[in-house]
Order: sequence, then structure tokens, then C-alpha cells
Amino acid sequence: PAPGWALTADVVVVGSGVAGLTAALRCEAAGLSTVVVTKARLDDGSTRWAQGGIAAALGEGDTPGQHLDDTLVAGVGLCDEAAVRLLVTEGPDAVRRLIATGAHFDESADGALQLTREGGHHRRRIAHAGGDATGAEISRALVDAVRARGLRTVENALVLDLLTDAEGRTAGVTLHVMGEGQHDGVGAVHAPAVVLATGGMGQVFSATTNPSVSTGDGVALALRAGAEVSDLEFVQFHPTVLFLGPDAEGQQPLVSEAVRGEGAHLVDADGTRFMVGQHELAELAPRDVVAKGITRRMRERGAAHMFLDARHFGAEMWEHRFPTILAACRAHGIDPVTEPIPVAPAAHYASGGVRTDSRGRTTVPGLYACGEVACTGVHGANRLASNSLLEGLVYAERIAADVAARHADGTLHAREVHPLTHPETPAHPLLPPEARLTIQRIMTDGAGVLRSAGSLTRAGDRLRHLHTEAREALHEHGKTAEPGVDAWEATNLLCVARVLVAAAAQREETRGCHWREDHPDRDDPAWRRHLVVRLNPDRT
Ligand code: SIN
Repeated sequence: PAPGWALTADVVVVGSGVAGLTAALRCEAAGLSTVVVTKARLDDGSTRWAQGGIAAALGEGDTPGQHLDDTLVAGVGLCDEAAVRLLVTEGPDAVRRLIATGAHFDESADGALQLTREGGHHRRRIAHAGGDATGAEISRALVDAVRARGLRTVENALVLDLLTDAEGRTAGVTLHVMGEGQHDGVGAVHAPAVVLATGGMGQVFSATTNPSVSTGDGVALALRAGAEVSDLEFVQFHPTVLFLGPDAEGQQPLVSEAVRGEGAHLVDADGTRFMVGQHELAELAPRDVVAKGITRRMRERGAAHMFLDARHFGAEMWEHRFPTILAACRAHGIDPVTEPIPVAPAAHYASGGVRTDSRGRTTVPGLYACGEVACTGVHGANRLASNSLLEGLVYAERIAADVAARHADGTLHAREVHPLTHPETPAHPLLPPEARLTIQRIMTDGAGVLRSAGSLTRAGDRLRHLHTEAREALHEHGKTAEPGVDAWEATNLLCVARVLVAAAAQREETRGCHWREDHPDRDDPAWRRHLVVRLNPDRT
């Protein structure tokens, strides 16, 4: 579709979580004309759902070096050490700047930040807000700041594709917007710098902690634009998600690792603590280790879930420290004060994404990425708990600095837009909205927490079939799905699912959160490397 309206800016930020809004605020503060576009409302992304907190070496005796060590261990040999070093050394000041922007973190009586622990951290270094509502507070503070600074924003704007000039340099994005008056329909923002901060792709699986907007739009856009994407096989499954039944689908309530950080135990139906003896940190082992421990015990016992027991916290601690989780459990008829919480792993975080360098630059000139959509190299094969909000902050600031510098030296200036691309190319036919459910089920069956060559081949075949059906409908019968947000989301989900499955099939080893039943061991040095994908625009 041809854009019916267009805005012009120095930089367009796509997404409004911690990464997007931080990038936008810093770009605006640097004097750049900035537009934020976001798929739903400004506070509707994953950031608002983050519970546990934000990790940084802020406590007495803690150092960036210790944070670095824990991050590298969690990443199982695949972290980019230089990228992690930037994260942990710039992290503490980035958190202080977030506080200066208006975010209130929980403090003890003497005014020091309260810090908790989560899986893989050898120290208390997770700052939190409202007990277990850290993301909601960060989102509130950043949205307030964006409004106070009067930044241009367009809500209900699904990004479609990258615009480029004749040399392939970024020239802006196209968008599908509904309900925003003068910006309704398909439009464009023309800008020589585009910052992708669109979040994750948890909705590619049936059960996930991610909100319904997390459909891999940024990764799909980047793939269609020919950018490099890396590490998609490393999907992190959060170990303790409230179990609402074997057929529960869509966003599921998270039970933060911080609950284990404060002393909750994982137990089976007999009340046995099965993580003890599996790892020196027991329930606080890195997330992949705990997710595997739970899954193994579920298989041994033929159980659909395990339990998290924190009855010993008592009512007062539950109410003050974990009010969000308490309310979510009670809303589903479970009272954690008097009974263990049924939990099982569910899809949580994409450790991989659009490949960037230390300044957030992707392989397409002028296209940047930060936050969950990006693969900066800090997470390796398994992200350390609560490093994601920090990564969003630190790398968003680095991007803003780079865009401002390149704007000042004249490298980033308005581009002449080359003819438009959009998802409905021969390589990416538009899928009907109902394909979403099919994709989620295929992925959960074949590419979930435990994978094998057989399961991944089946998943790949079924995904290819969906693609072929849509392509044939378009080319042989001239039929296409009705263009709209649901259809584009399904199309994006299929695009990222196919690349994810191909990478998971290729990586014949078990490492971090990629667990292969048929290759149960880590294979160093053969697989101590990244799988980098770049789609040929005509590839089907
Ligand atoms: C949690 O609170 O357990 C989630 C933390 C994270 O995903 O980093």
C-alpha cells in the first residue's frame, strides 16, 4: 500500500518500552527532531510487565567485574565480553540517570536502594520498584517524561517495513495506523535514522509471559530489509510461570525469580526440593538450568507442573514485597500464603535478535536496534536475570549518542526514498489472522523448551506449508488476506518462526536455553559460535 500520510524527523524510534523511550528522550535532549511510533499505547509493551527488577552493581562491595562474571557464566560461552563490559560498567550510572528521569525504586529506611537476588547472580544487585512492579514504574516514569518533553508520538502504529534510498541506506519506515485521526491508515515517517525497539517475539509460542503485542515485528522487518539477525535459537523459557492448565494459551502470569531470590523453594508434588544438588545455587541457578530442572522433574513424574513454595514468607511479606504476584495468584484461586504455587516454564525472552555493534548499529546503514529486538552480544546463549532492562537503557543511550554524533558530522541527513517495500512481497505473502494460533501450536510442539531433530523438522515442514498456502492463494488465485494488524502480525510471526526453527535445527548441541534431546551436551569448540542469518529479499 502507498503511504497516505508522512511525517519527517531526524530519527524515528519504533517501540515504547525502556529501550525505545530512553533512546527517544536522549535523542530529543541532543536536539534531534524525534518521533516515537508504537504498536499499541505508549505503555503497552513488555517493559511494563517486568517484575523482578534491573540488575546493576550498585550495592556495597559489588563491582562491575562481578556482574560481568555472572553474566558470562549465564551466557555459556557465547557472550561478547566487550559488549558485556560496556553493559556492566555503564549500567550503574544509566540506572542513576533513570532515577533522575523520575523512576522511584524501593529504598530501605536509610535511603539506600533495596537490592534483591535472582538466578545466576552471586550478589544482591537487582533494584526493584513497588515490590514486584519494577517495569510498571519504569514505564510510568519514561512515559511521563516523554509527555512532559512534548515528544511527537504516534500510537496504534504497527511498523511495516524499512524505507531506504537508492544506495540501501535507511530513509524511514512505513506504518499501519488505526484510530489516530489524521494519521489513520498506511503512512510513513521519513528519517535517516530508525531505532528498532520493538521488543520480543514471545507470542510465537502458545504460552508466554509476553503481552500480545510481542510478535517479532522488529526482527521480521530487519530480515525483510536484509539486516543480519543472530542467535534466534536461544529462546529463554522462564522457569516459574503460574500454571493455569495444560491448554492455557497467550500471556501467562509471571512469578518472578525474585520470589526465589527472597527464599522460596521449588518442590515437586511430594514436597521434595529437587534443585538442591543439581547446582551450587540450587533454586537460584541460572534460568536455563532451573527451567531444565523443572522440565526433567515434570517428565520423570509425568506431571504438568511443579510448585513454588513460599508459604513461610507469611501474609505481610507477600503483601508488601510481592503485591502484583499475590494478586495474580489470588485472581486464579491460589493463595501463596497458604499453599504452594503451581508453576511451569513458558516462553519469556529472545536472547537473540537483530545483530548490532557496540553503538547499536545494525548491518543496514542508519538502522539501529536496542532492547529485546537486538542482539548486542550481551546475553549469549542465556540472558542473566534482570539484565534486559539494563541492556535497554545502556544501549539506547549509546544509540542516541551515535545518532547525535553522526547527525552533527553530516553523515545522517535526509534521504530520497526509493520505491516502497511492504510485507506483501512474493517472499512474504500476507497470512490470514487465524494463522497465529496455528504457528503458536506448531512452535510449542516442535521448538519449545526441549527440541530434537525430529520435532524441529516437523515444525519446519508445517511452517513451510503455511507459507506455501499463502503464496499459492496470492499467486494462483489472486487471493490475499485482508491487510490489517492481525494479518501483518501473523506474517511476522511466521517469518521469525521459520528462521528460529532453522537455527535450532542447525545447532546440534545443548547450550544455555537451547536444549536438544538428541544432542544433550555442549559441543565446544565446534559450536562456540553464532548462527547469523541474512535473508535474500527474494528468498521464499
Ligand atoms: C523475573 O522477575 O523473574 C523476570 C526477570 C527477568 O526476566 O530478567
